[in-house]
Amino acid sequence: MNLPPHITVQDGRLKIGGFDCGDLAERYGTPLYVTDQDRIIALFHAYRNELATRYPRVKVLYAAKANGNLAILRALAREGAGADVFSSGELTLALSAGMAPGDLLFNGSSKSRQDLALAVEKGVPVSVDSLDELHVLDEVSRQAGRVTPIAFRVNPALDVPTHPKIATGLATSKFGIPHGMIRDAYREAMKCEGVLPVGIHCHIGSQILDLQPFVEAARVMVEIVRDLVAMGIRIEFVDLGGGLGIPYHHQVDERAPSPREYAEAVVPVIRKGLGEIGITPGLWVEPGRSLVADSTILLTRVNSTKKAHKNFVNVDAGFNLLVRPAMYEAYHEVIVAGKADMQPAETYTVAGPICESGDILAADRRLPAVHEGDLLAVLDTGAYGFSMSSQYNCRPRCAEVLVYHGQAALMRRAETIEDLTAPMQLPPWLS
Ligand code: LLP
Repeated sequence: MNLPPHITVQDGRLKIGGFDCGDLAERYGTPLYVTDQDRIIALFHAYRNELATRYPRVKVLYAAKANGNLAILRALAREGAGADVFSSGELTLALSAGMAPGDLLFNGSSKSRQDLALAVEKGVPVSVDSLDELHVLDEVSRQAGRVTPIAFRVNPALDVPTHPKIATGLATSKFGIPHGMIRDAYREAMKCEGVLPVGIHCHIGSQILDLQPFVEAARVMVEIVRDLVAMGIRIEFVDLGGGLGIPYHHQVDERAPSPREYAEAVVPVIRKGLGEIGITPGLWVEPGRSLVADSTILLTRVNSTKKAHKNFVNVDAGFNLLVRPAMYEAYHEVIVAGKADMQPAETYTVAGPICESGDILAADRRLPAVHEGDLLAVLDTGAYGFSMSSQYNCRPRCAEVLVYHGQAALMRRAETIEDLTAPMQLPPWLS
């Protein structure tokens, strides 16, 4: 099995960042998310260095939605990362992690007046998604006596090979302003005193394993920038969004482009195009998954096994903690943590504890013999894992542990039943 360098097998036992998974599960309980900080930081530097050796002004904005834990934002902030934020919550967390307001971009197709007011107050640039939003932001900015730097999110209408639910640059997507209408949007923005158009933004989708769509998107962006510059707009940044995929299949030789291959493919298009126009704006990217996905495993304990029409392994984590398999038919590799060097013995379907037939973490997997009490590790759960979790079935969310340079510590305690009920209130006629 191909494993990333921080995940190892010693005497048949699975380790992350040098820590035995069984020991971590004993110490912190299960289910448990465990993240290796060094892995995230190494990937962040790979991204920034590969881009920065090819282009003079580069910013890596981590897509906070992938994993919004404050510790991860802080670790990245310390290395100089900014963030793509998609809500007031993500914005506030990124700032409290120590990121500079100017290193954030407030994205999203449906921001409230309150969201926009927060961006204005904190001095965070906004990626504007509609003319309606432009006018609200203009008004909010003028009321605050500010001029807010903006980009428009362009919908480049590209057909990207990924799951339809995570392809965001299709012509039919809810995101962005259609490519053909974008120049008019900038014209409108130039009339607004409360905003200053300084950037352009796109994001074509997620879990993309082919570089060609990124190259295409870069071409579209350059083409638009050429017209914007001719209109008299000073473009200070071009933001290409995120979207680079990772290899989720470790049993076969699945490959994803590395940050280097991404930079090699995309930067020449940007460099040449912008060079011809005669400008050198900042080049921003917004990776989420490719920075954090493989840093993390989800440890889950086997409650029972059952031979029925299928061979079920019933574990203590379900789509309440990892919704990707149920939502996108996503594949996550599963390893029996204490039997990592054993040959497969049976075909198992790993099912969660949620009251839905769709609560399957992994279907029809060849695994060594699994018994009650065994510990399973679900790989590549650092992106859109905990961040998409819920309390469905009144299940408190689990803890998250961070490992770093031989240390392990909680970065989130497990929720309790009291945490579930704390915000609930009985209306007066029921109390
Ligand atoms: N920038 C913007 C504006 C985005 O909307 C996203 C992700 C990113 C950057 C980061 O994309 P990444 O590098 O992570 O592909 N929940 C889905 C993925 C949804 C992605 C949403 N937008 C999943 O679990 O596959």
